[in-house]
Amino acid sequence: MRTLVNLDGSLVAPAEAKISVFDRGFLYGDSVYEVIRTYGGRPFELPAHLARLAHSASRIGLAPRWDAERTTAEIERTLAAGRGGDASDPDAAPWNRGERYIRVVMTRGAGEIGLDPALAVDPVAVVIVQPLSGPPARAYAEGIGAVIVGVRRASPQAVDPSAKTGAHLAHVLAVREARAIGAQEGLLLDDAGFVTEGSSSNVFAVSEGRVCTPPLAAGILEGVTRAVVLRLARAEGLPVDEVPLRPENLERADELFITSTVREILPVTRLGDGAVGGGRPGPITYRLHQAFRRIAGGPVGLRARR
Ligand code: PDD
Repeated sequence: MRTLVNLDGSLVAPAEAKISVFDRGFLYGDSVYEVIRTYGGRPFELPAHLARLAHSASRIGLAPRWDAERTTAEIERTLAAGRGGDASDPDAAPWNRGERYIRVVMTRGAGEIGLDPALAVDPVAVVIVQPLSGPPARAYAEGIGAVIVGVRRASPQAVDPSAKTGAHLAHVLAVREARAIGAQEGLLLDDAGFVTEGSSSNVFAVSEGRVCTPPLAAGILEGVTRAVVLRLARAEGLPVDEVPLRPENLERADELFITSTVREILPVTRLGDGAVGGGRPGPITYRLHQAFRRIAGGPVGLRARR
């Protein structure tokens, strides 16, 4: 399958998918977006993603070009146009094979240059569909490295962190910092030194059998996967704490994992230069991932090594 773009309702090849250099998404990150994925070719948790998109738009006063119904129809149309034709990838996790990554972007549109949102005249709607390339199977079996980065999560009094906007420079810099030391995810603290979230994930720590994650009030994105994981943990009878976490709570945790649409539940076995929980994915992470796999469909999780 090749990447397909739906630009304001027209299906175009990536090379033809062009928007104005005066678009405010380009100039100011004045846009909202969602990343959705498929299982068995069907979008997963679509209503939750569309509700968050509407929430993001309302938090920044952006009137999207399409409503939820039209967005759903355009996603379906773009998915249908991109069926089949996947190259086989022996390293892919089995639940990612043949699946799609869907990115929906709504910008405030173009207009005369100037910060005033009233200058925007024509909102733009984009759906990008491409083969899903999630973490390789090995990452689930062995875990990944993460690091607490120096760049901080903007305060909730700046841009509301519950809005998924295109203003992403702090997260770009967090990934840059993480990659520089060979880590796959950068975790951001807030101004007071509390853990918020990853550059594009939510973070969980398991300590003495309790599943802990920062509360929404910590200034984080309300991850769709985070919500599913909290539901699953409670259904599994695991004690769940949405509590402020300090870096030492992560360093001393028995298990750590991150969650996101593309990565599901991904064990973190190294934090900075230290091992987490003996450097192997832990049993509760594995159990939650198995439970997740059961509701998402497809093969169950890869076996943890301890
Ligand atoms: N990112 N926190 C941030 C800052 C994110 O960007 C994301 C998702 C998450 C996890 O949310 P969800 O479980 O709904 O995917 C948390 C997407 C995947 C991205 O930007 O690629």
